Amino acid sequence: MIEDIEPPTLRLDRVTARLGDTTALDDVTLQLDSPRIAVIGANGSGKSTFARLLGGLSRPTSGTVHVHGVDTARETARLRRLVSIVFSNPDAQIVMPTVAEDVGFSLRGTSGSKGEIAERVARALEEFGLTALADRSAHELSGGQKQLLALCGAVIRRPALLIADEPTAYLDARNSAAVAGHLLRPEAGHQLVLVTHDLELAARCDVALLFDGGRVTAQGDPADVIASYRASLAT
Ligand SMILES: Nc1ncnc2c1ncn2[C@@H]1O[C@H](COP(=O)(O)OP(=O)(O)OP(=O)(O)O)[C@@H](O)[C@H]1O
Ligand SMILES: [Mg+2]
Repeated sequence: MIEDIEPPTLRLDRVTARLGDTTALDDVTLQLDSPRIAVIGANGSGKSTFARLLGGLSRPTSGTVHVHGVDTARETARLRRLVSIVFSNPDAQIVMPTVAEDVGFSLRGTSGSKGEIAERVARALEEFGLTALADRSAHELSGGQKQLLALCGAVIRRPALLIADEPTAYLDARNSAAVAGHLLRPEAGHQLVLVTHDLELAARCDVALLFDGGRVTAQGDPADVIASYRASLAT
């Protein structure tokens, strides 16, 4: 049997995204094969727009976006099975009353007996240090605990691509390190697109993209891209 040795690919071809009067992304063409991709840049530079396009939450005004071979504008059902998204506001991501139910909800539609699903939820809670909170009201968790819960729900689906938009923005140092650890661990099995203002976190990725005014102005080794960003801030 011939193994599929193609790396996972994210591809944007001449993508422009207009939001109201703003050109949030301006004719961006990219191809990315790295497992862990950091996205950095100033406020309003287009990072979240890029993340939303990859996740199929919005569509390009012109151009095409492909995620692991799937056209995000045309094949939304396939895309939904491939991608999980985590934002910095975990409140918006909690849908079920208890912690365990909320994680279980992420597995809706997947195959497996009730017992197998419960087992998978228990394992994921354990992995994210949430076992003791399993029966607690999800809405009564602390911000950091909610973020861990959101991430647990995103990862349990075993997405091919995990998109995280400032997932550590509201976290203390300890929870931030915990979330980063879960996102970045090499054995996680997902490709990661990590939008962040935390440049130390960006440096731990395999590649970084710098956005400026809706365009990608640097791409490559995170240390080099971060240096370009710092240089642009100094001018
Ligand atoms: N719904 C919207 N309607 C109109 N303009 C929008 C909308 N969302 C974003 N924009 C504009 O698009 C541009 C890019 O926004 P985007 O949210 O992608 O930036 P960002 O790089 O994620 O910024 P931040 O670091 O502040 O999160 C900004 O000028 C923003 O004002
Ligand atoms: Mg943003």
